[in-house]
Amino acid sequence: MMTTRIIGTGSALPKKTLTNDELSQIMDTSDEWIRTRTGIVSRHVADEEETAATLAAEAGRRAIDNAGMKPEDIELVLVATCSAENYFPSVGCQVQDILGLKNAAAMDISAACSGFLFALNTAHAYILSGLYEKILVIGTETLSRTIDWTDRSTCVLFGDGAGACVVRSDEEGIIGISQHSDGTQGGVLTSFAPSLETPLAAAAPGSPLYMEGQAVFKFAVKTVPECIRQVLEDNHTEVEDVKYFVLHQANSRIIQSVAKRLKADEEKFPMNLDKCGNTSAASIPILLDEMNRSNKLGRGDLLVLSGFGAGLTWGAALLRW
Ligand code: UT7
Repeated sequence: MMTTRIIGTGSALPKKTLTNDELSQIMDTSDEWIRTRTGIVSRHVADEEETAATLAAEAGRRAIDNAGMKPEDIELVLVATCSAENYFPSVGCQVQDILGLKNAAAMDISAACSGFLFALNTAHAYILSGLYEKILVIGTETLSRTIDWTDRSTCVLFGDGAGACVVRSDEEGIIGISQHSDGTQGGVLTSFAPSLETPLAAAAPGSPLYMEGQAVFKFAVKTVPECIRQVLEDNHTEVEDVKYFVLHQANSRIIQSVAKRLKADEEKFPMNLDKCGNTSAASIPILLDEMNRSNKLGRGDLLVLSGFGAGLTWGAALLRW
């Protein structure tokens, strides 16, 4: 029985960083508040040359190299993003252009911070269907361009970056994967695009990212462990069998609470949000790439990936590395 295996990873972070101390020079916040409430110390922020597409392409290029493939091997590019600079062409098509992925079809997927998980699941479905064998899956964000830099309750949380994985059909890899949405809760985390005046309707201004932080926090600490337990149970796997739980990097307190609720050792929950902040759809593949390149992952290790965010959306995957 064939499944989907991650065979290469890559990531790209903007050159410039913004530390908590630097933020506290320009707004009423402090390193102490941000660090203790979130675990974040610094984040990368795109400059005028860097976009969701350029970061995605660099992460994708590294993942293709890491997989030992050539650009022409890729048959499909799936890009998860909620902060692309343009409505179209898709980031996927821009990545195709930059990397010369001449044999690939390309498209974007919008599921906010769960985007990478949803894109991975989509790749898995394509592979199981037999339609494609080699797929580049990317999460990329430049959320710094969508947040209100005068709103200290949200702007200190997010960072920019991209992470990518090359997946292909193989005998081992994804064991189980789930994705879920609850559109009735959409209002707790929103960002509205601006619209122009039409003959029938007035122009509507956009709005920067708005978040009811505590509602999202409560949702995450309840739903993520339930979702992980379900994917483990469905696949007859115990929490103890899992080597690492690679969670969306939103807040270290959320991750610690999930570990506690799963009765799992916190050491099994790697984090990099101290230096990256919350990079939304990019956070899981950036962290995976970091772990892969520092040789933390061994062939045969069981991993759980889990994302959650706006929509609301959430999901989890159990896979063998
Ligand atoms: O990836 C998408 C998913 N998003 C998330 O997972 C985010 C989930 N939510 C959270 O991580 C937390 O709710 C936050 C980190 C966003 C906020 O932490 P909190 O413990 O829920 O704080 P709070 O919103 O209750 O605010 C506590 C206080 C308030 O002051 P008062 O009303 O108690 O006087 C805020 O005005 O902290 C104040 N505050 C700040 N103070 C210094 C809010 N932001 C800041 C700030 N610096 N940056």
